[in-house]
Amino acid sequence: MTAFAPGRVNLIGDHTDYTGGLVLPMAIQMGTTVTGRRGGPVVRLTSGAAPGEAVVDLPAGPTLIATGWAGYVEAVAAVLGAGVGITGHVTSDLPIGAGLSSSASLEVAVALALNSDVSDAVELARLCQEAEQRASGVPCGIMDQLTSIAGVEGHALLIDCTDLSVQPVPVPADAEIVVIHSGQERRLAGSAYAERRRDCEAAADQIGPLRLASPGDIDQIHDPRLRARARHVVSENARVPAFAAALATGDLRACGELMLESHRSLALDFEVSTDRLDQMVEDLAPRPGVYGARLTGAGFGGCVVALTDPGALDEGWPVRPSAGARAVVRVVRVDG
Ligand code: GLA
Repeated sequence: MTAFAPGRVNLIGDHTDYTGGLVLPMAIQMGTTVTGRRGGPVVRLTSGAAPGEAVVDLPAGPTLIATGWAGYVEAVAAVLGAGVGITGHVTSDLPIGAGLSSSASLEVAVALALNSDVSDAVELARLCQEAEQRASGVPCGIMDQLTSIAGVEGHALLIDCTDLSVQPVPVPADAEIVVIHSGQERRLAGSAYAERRRDCEAAADQIGPLRLASPGDIDQIHDPRLRARARHVVSENARVPAFAAALATGDLRACGELMLESHRSLALDFEVSTDRLDQMVEDLAPRPGVYGARLTGAGFGGCVVALTDPGALDEGWPVRPSAGARAVVRVVRVDG
């Protein structure tokens, strides 16, 4: 049995998913593979990417016992209510902690390995999101897990996090998407992420769902911090469909402008950037063949994503829009 789930890079639409907003990520060619044999009442996995072994007696209880990457495996087994285990090995070619959703990719690959007949992508994404929240303690949204499951070859995904509809948007063949690590691990990301989420909820308590809010509504928020948070979310929700339309017509210049605006908004209004990320974006933007760049994912370190002409940059990882996990599990060979 082999199950693969890709990582993702978010092209635009950050810190919008947990308020029912719009996001435009794409599943990438790098990801996590679980190979093994199903059977027995235990999940026992080794990993090529991290030390230790994940050993989970089934059924896994609601209170997490394992730590590190094994905690993610245990949390997935628990949310799925898995009764039949697997003995096998995990490999990953995703850089860990870089903001390419290595944990979501692990969760989805393990979920598929344990229970490949989950045919509802959204339901499986919700379960894996719950596993991520349990294992990491971070109240994340659903973007990463849903992207890993629903990715489409050659396409980014326009996801509406209110109704969880997924619309594939073609990525032009002459566009290169490059992910560059800042070298900064995303420390503090957990508590600061939760604070940002609370700020958004406090803003929504005052003016209603941010997804439906207009720039005029934002002016009614007195607290300057909450006003700025809401301004980011509302403006980002407007940038995502504009970016999707520009991408679909191959207007990479317009895409690049929107990426730079998104970065400024994440830096100034949402305050999730770092000096290093700002510097990287500033350095990349004027380079020949670069249309735009922005921090991607939660921020507080991690990666910058750049939209470029092919070969314009010689650093970073060029990423290709890959098929999602669901497409891959259809060809899974079950031999145990
Ligand atoms: C992390 C979370 C996602 C999303 C992004 C920010 O990747 O897991 O749900 O909120 O941050 O856009």
